[in-house]
Amino acid sequence: MPVVVVVVVAVMRGDGGGLKGARGRQGRGAAVAGRWRRVAVILLALAYAASMLVVFLGGGAGGVAVAGAGAGALRQRGAPAPAGSVYRSHLVLDRLLPELRASSASRPHPLMTPQNKKSGKRWAPCITKKLRRSELPPSNGFLIIEANGGLNQQRISICDAVAVASLLNATLVTPAFHLNSVWRDSSKFGDIFDEDHFIGSLRKYIRVVKELPEDAFVNFDHNISMIPNMRTKAFSSESYYLQKVLPKLLELGAVRIAPFSNRLAHSVPPNIQALRCFANYEALRFSEPIRMLGTNMVDRMIKMSSLTGGKYISVHLRFEEDMLAFSCCIYDGGWRESIEMENARERSWRGKFHRPGRVINPEANRRNGKCPLTPLEVGMMLQGMGFGNTTSLYVASGKIYNAEKYMTPLRQLFPLLQTKDTLASPEELAQFKGHSSRLAALDYTVCLQSEEFVTTQGSNFPHFLMGHRRYLYGGNAKTIKPDKRKLVALFDNPNIRWDRFKRQMQDIHRHSESKGFGVRKPNGSISIYTLPMPDCMCQRAEP
Ligand SMILES: *[C@@H]1O[C@H](CO)[C@@H](O)[C@H](O)[C@H]1NC(C)=O
Ligand SMILES: *[C@@H]1O[C@H](CO)[C@@H](O)[C@H](O)[C@H]1NC(C)=O
Ligand SMILES: *[C@@H]1O[C@H](CO)[C@@H](O)[C@H](O)[C@H]1NC(C)=O
Ligand SMILES: *[C@@H]1O[C@H](CO)[C@@H](O)[C@H](O)[C@H]1NC(C)=O
Repeated sequence: MPVVVVVVVAVMRGDGGGLKGARGRQGRGAAVAGRWRRVAVILLALAYAASMLVVFLGGGAGGVAVAGAGAGALRQRGAPAPAGSVYRSHLVLDRLLPELRASSASRPHPLMTPQNKKSGKRWAPCITKKLRRSELPPSNGFLIIEANGGLNQQRISICDAVAVASLLNATLVTPAFHLNSVWRDSSKFGDIFDEDHFIGSLRKYIRVVKELPEDAFVNFDHNISMIPNMRTKAFSSESYYLQKVLPKLLELGAVRIAPFSNRLAHSVPPNIQALRCFANYEALRFSEPIRMLGTNMVDRMIKMSSLTGGKYISVHLRFEEDMLAFSCCIYDGGWRESIEMENARERSWRGKFHRPGRVINPEANRRNGKCPLTPLEVGMMLQGMGFGNTTSLYVASGKIYNAEKYMTPLRQLFPLLQTKDTLASPEELAQFKGHSSRLAALDYTVCLQSEEFVTTQGSNFPHFLMGHRRYLYGGNAKTIKPDKRKLVALFDNPNIRWDRFKRQMQDIHRHSESKGFGVRKPNGSISIYTLPMPDCMCQRAEP
């Protein structure tokens, strides 16, 4: 025991800098709370270490018993966890590896086999047909919005703002971006998107200006905060804007809506919807530096995929520290992981996970398919689907948690794996470093052009990519979106045989393909950004 204690204390001290830095911003009460929390973390670690020692001395089944302190406490002592509760994919891989290797060489590659063309209708973009075009009516005033969130949440705000500006006959001021506490990116609109292209391509439909003009600004003492902020509810209807926002706009000559994210209903009149489509799929394109490097990265990816006819697959891996901490899932990192996750939660969501009444159940999270897939799990899944080691794989992600440890198995399964750091040189990436939205835009560009796109966790990034890929590729997203509830049960079964595993993965793959064509329900909960059909596309009979 004493040895374990020394290690834990040393780790805590090593992390002191970050805690101190955070405390500087807080009052004394928070500092005391922080200290108590730190004590709690140490106790948690000690409890964990002690339980490991017991497992060890008692000759427990090694990694199989690694359930984590939080998880163990929530289950009846001694009762086995239901299938899918515990992370032990690494043990399953160890077991399946010989068979997996043996079958890897001998099968037809899915990227090289012609896909079963679904008979029947194909979809094609037809936005301009749906747009009403006439003389622009006189402007009722200026609409100022502020977009919050990461790259794709900003994208929602921008496209919705275009729609609202049209609804109100307002002149849109190019949106400003909030500095987000998690993404911490100070980029402006023009750093990420091509502003002149945006304004120019919308010219026939709405007026867009880069800044509020002087003669309007002077009415507000040159102070944006003096323009009344219309707080709107999420997914407000067109009638809300016409009844509540329009009168203010006419009265003051300008209104502001901040933050403006998901502030317009999914269903709006067809011509307004078409404008939203147009904004997303045509008017918004990345700024020139992003497009230039992005195109080069795609070209390099195609060159490196010569074994599969220039085709590659892309994976959106959500395995960053913040994401894992937020998910409250437990992996195979032991007490060190528990401490790092607890610290990350405190850093980004101070106190949120310790509020009274908040129940955190990592085992249930895993069973319910809420846990981010590890790189290893992604690798096994793709191998099971038939993608052998000659597949070139592009991995889109932020900074992977404990990358050395977690990426190694995926690289071993897919030696032709690339990321933006291997596809682009440090000099090329220098201007994007520290700007998570611009880096995400590079990932977006490479994923958009891939033969298949694998999403491992729901978020705006895969939702926008799925929609965009449907838009570009005749309506079929070619997205692999695994049912994680099914996956966890297979990954938590150390006795599973490769044949069965493979069959299940191929089922998931087929299912993804047949779900590729999806049509939006008029009053459903899905947006045109994920399902552009039928709002942004038209059906064509197969020739
Ligand atoms: C892929 O696997 C086969 C069979 O295990 C092996 O012979 C080959 O060298 C591997 N290829 C690469 C690129 O690792
Ligand atoms: C916007 O302009 C159109 C075309 O002139 C007109 O039909 C519509 O009523 C106007 N809407 C508003 C809110 O001013
Ligand atoms: C802008 O207006 C806000 C709200 O009235 C005020 O608090 C702030 O001090 C003003 N800023 C400047 C630079 O005048
Ligand atoms: C959608 O919902 C709105 C209001 O909730 C309703 O007015 C409209 O008729 C509905 N449209 C369809 C197609 O169901």
